Amino acid sequence: MPSVIIVGTQWGDEGKGKVVDHCAQDASYVVRYQGGANAGHTIVVNGKSLRLQLIPSGVLTGKRVLIGAGVVIDPKILIDEIDRLESLGVRANLLISGKAHITLPYHHLLDSSLEQSRSRKIGTTKRGIGPTYTDKTSRHGLQMTELAAGNFEEKVKRNIDVANKMLRHIIEVDDQVNLDEVVQTYTKYASRLKEYVGDVSTAISSALENGERVLFEGAQGTMLDIDHGTYPFVTSSSASAGGACTGAGIGPTMIDSVMGVCKAYTTRVGEGPFPTELHDETGDRLRDAGGEYGAVTGRPRRCGWLDLNIIRYAKRINGLTSLAITKLDVLTGFDKVRVGVSYRLGNQIIRDTPVHDLENCVPIYVDLDGWSDLFDSDGLCTNAEAYVGMIERETGLPVSYISYGPERDEMICRRSVWS
Ligand code: GDP
Ligand code: IMO
Ligand code: MG
Repeated sequence: MPSVIIVGTQWGDEGKGKVVDHCAQDASYVVRYQGGANAGHTIVVNGKSLRLQLIPSGVLTGKRVLIGAGVVIDPKILIDEIDRLESLGVRANLLISGKAHITLPYHHLLDSSLEQSRSRKIGTTKRGIGPTYTDKTSRHGLQMTELAAGNFEEKVKRNIDVANKMLRHIIEVDDQVNLDEVVQTYTKYASRLKEYVGDVSTAISSALENGERVLFEGAQGTMLDIDHGTYPFVTSSSASAGGACTGAGIGPTMIDSVMGVCKAYTTRVGEGPFPTELHDETGDRLRDAGGEYGAVTGRPRRCGWLDLNIIRYAKRINGLTSLAITKLDVLTGFDKVRVGVSYRLGNQIIRDTPVHDLENCVPIYVDLDGWSDLFDSDGLCTNAEAYVGMIERETGLPVSYISYGPERDEMICRRSVWS
């Protein structure tokens, strides 16, 4: 199949970067379509780890990498990423949509000071994501094409004036943004990035017409989606599969399949409901074994058992056609592994995910036997197979990939996304 979306099914950090890097080996294009530098996608190849925030995770495979209109771009982080790749001998074959919006210093300031002033915190990454999307939907944001345009200073001045007033008089903090500094710095960014700016939607369309394989790489996860996640504890973009169409500039009929990335257990960074969260030593053990510390902020991730209600919800919201299970190795050594299969909500047993009532949902678990070695001479050991089988049965989705380590090749492929 020539066009595939890879999307997070949980609260992000499912291992999308690893799965995308693996699948990109057989693709021609990899496209990021939403989110910004709040994402942290880790790829490990030959023992070397690379964390990407904006450049699509196919970059190490040498494929054409595209950043769509739905992404918000922090130019500094993007340039640092390009430079870091160059120091590794990789020249990113990159195209950035001229319609993508730009994160400016006042977005960072607004993000952190708004978060500070909230009584009910979201726990944002403080990368200016919410305020950048706010400017975009308020229709005074700045797009990549405007970064190099003659009236950049005039446009940014108006926004900085408003932001400074808001900081001083509404949020009541002393920080202010200096127009001259912003213009000077962003003019440099413009000259550095202009060679990459172009028409992403047309590039994808032509690629698909030529029968080339295009991979769409989601950031964050379904439960962080602005519309379908655990609002208000979400990010500010359409992190579910629908975002690929609007964010990349293609129609839904151009998509052939949607693979959900599902960590073998659950994690969440930041605030908000999390029914299967473990507040005990088992949670600590998952965190240690899985190295569950935020790729962007270094925050310890909240950990808990796999919640199949959420994966079923992700199936519906994204129209999933298959799953990639990641980090199955992390469960090695547990006597019993638990899986949430339904919820008790008041007097009812439900198998759905009511996002606005999630804090009242009590998971009902099934316990499975654990394993001390993930593999035996026939491949995955019987108990790990039973775990994967349970996921397939409970979700009605085939598991196409099983990842058992961070390295690109630590992956069982049962059925290629391209078949
Ligand atoms: P993403 O945001 O969805 O791309 O995920 P992150 O990169 O933020 O977090 C996933 C972490 O798990 C990274 O450190 C990966 O290198 C690592 N990882 C990915 N797949 C596996 C796996 O199967 N096993 C183990 N042990 N680590 C993995
Ligand atoms: P990847 O792509 C996990 C979370 C933040 C916070 C909420 C809102 O690596 O999976 P924001 O800065 O977006 O306004 O924060 O969303 N969050 C993520 N959690 N992985 C991510 O990205 C995330 N991006 C944002 O922790 O709870
Ligand atoms: Mg991440």
